[in-house]
Amino acid sequence: MFSSIGAAVTVRNDRHVDIAISAIPNGVSQYDSFLFCREGSEIKCYQRRCDHMGGLLSLSSDGLARCPLHGWVFNPHKGSYENIQVSKRPESFAVNPKSNSIRVTERDGVLSYPVLEPASSRLEVSFFGHACLYFKGIDFRFAIDPWLIGPAFVSGWWTSIPPVRGWRHTLSECDFIFISHNHPDHLNPTTLSEIKRDVPMVVPDFSSSSVEKTLRSFGFNNIYPLELGQAYNLSGTSLIFSILPCGDGRDDSGIYLNYGDFSFLSTIDSNDLNSGVLPHAPTILATCASPGASGHPLCYDDIAPDVKASILKRKKVSLLKTQVDLVKRTVPRYFMPYASFFEPRAKMDYEIQQNNVSLSADDFVDLIPPPLLNVKKYDHFVFDGGQLIYTDLLEREDHLDDPEEWINRNLIQQPIPSDSEVAKYLENSGFEDNLTLYLTLCSDDFVDAYSHFRCDFSQTPLKVEIMTTPPEWETICSSSDNHGQLMWMKVRVKAFAYVMSNRLSWEDLSIGFQCRFKRTPDIYNTRFWDFFTNHYIGKL
Ligand code: FES
Repeated sequence: MFSSIGAAVTVRNDRHVDIAISAIPNGVSQYDSFLFCREGSEIKCYQRRCDHMGGLLSLSSDGLARCPLHGWVFNPHKGSYENIQVSKRPESFAVNPKSNSIRVTERDGVLSYPVLEPASSRLEVSFFGHACLYFKGIDFRFAIDPWLIGPAFVSGWWTSIPPVRGWRHTLSECDFIFISHNHPDHLNPTTLSEIKRDVPMVVPDFSSSSVEKTLRSFGFNNIYPLELGQAYNLSGTSLIFSILPCGDGRDDSGIYLNYGDFSFLSTIDSNDLNSGVLPHAPTILATCASPGASGHPLCYDDIAPDVKASILKRKKVSLLKTQVDLVKRTVPRYFMPYASFFEPRAKMDYEIQQNNVSLSADDFVDLIPPPLLNVKKYDHFVFDGGQLIYTDLLEREDHLDDPEEWINRNLIQQPIPSDSEVAKYLENSGFEDNLTLYLTLCSDDFVDAYSHFRCDFSQTPLKVEIMTTPPEWETICSSSDNHGQLMWMKVRVKAFAYVMSNRLSWEDLSIGFQCRFKRTPDIYNTRFWDFFTNHYIGKL
């Protein structure tokens, strides 16, 4: 279906900086775009660019470098972040003995793709809902990330826009459907259950095969994993299509495509897409506009309500800044904020609904120069090459799903696994890390606890303890026997049973507001979440 036409070409625009060794003091220091850690003759150099979403790390008096956007804290002595399990790649540099200086390189560049002459310059882009877009040219039609009905993340997220009329037929007739990653607001079981199973599915070629595994468990077998960063041509057309990797190493991706003079770049949910090396001047730049799309901080019991509110406010401001910076860097003709059309509408998540924050196209109005494609006003855009020539509104169904009806039909009926079945499920994971997880299965309001488990993932083989009493968290945290990280997850028992029996991702629980957390130290355990989201999944 696709033929590879090689890797996208990076046109480098690197800047070399010469720094006298005498200007680098012992200890940690900051110089222009770099951080240094020097011990005598040993010098380590790091880019100040934050590995999360490209914010600028700034050194504080305590020797740690902080990112103003979302608070990642980098320790130049260790070469890793303090509050997330991410290491930073040291920069290599050349030493010039004559001038007694070092030469470091500030990396920059743009991606360039071939363009083929299309049979017709007309192309339609339709917004179907949340992150689902539909593209139609004279010789191709495809959709990306369809979530149009049913919930995502167990019962945590619900679409806030009714589906487009006839979507089942439209999606079933696509030349292909692209799925960017395995979060259910992009790879949605209910939506996909209503379309033909033989539609070609195009996915990123992640080493975990997380998207492919999930699709196969839903009954799709016509799957095309495409290599990240490669350019592909859809056979018999002039469409060039490329999947770009998420910059922070998660199983996530964005896309670039062109069709003659029209081009489209979307970061989808990716942070720092392709580490900031992106095509210049696409016709449309589309980005996710969901700062409240995770369980943090609302589901963390250790965080006071006023602190939660200020974290969410900061997230919103940071996301706005990140997107505005991206617009400045890529200089699109049109900007489309999307992938934020969900609501936590289940009654049991009322408090989350009240406190979560979201962005809308209106938030961008005064901040960016290019015209906005506001999908709440118009959702069907017709282009002639790179020029928008027509907009209108698609016809939509007249109702949204009722969360309580789905919960009654799916969660209430869900059999609860026995304690020994839960213990076996955890032990079979084979996950290893310096982490002890306390897992409490409880009622929907997190008040009544039904069972407790202790998993010390540093043990091999893992032996899960079924506890007879709740964990005494303060005592556990202050114990001198502690090693590694401690995390206490209280999970709604029905949601846990649903995820366990369908071998779904644990991020369905965390992002879907189905848990309440305590953890110490307050570090995001990247390995744990990656394992239980991208590896230990897929019904056999
Ligand atoms: S913490 Fe640095 S960009 Fe988010």
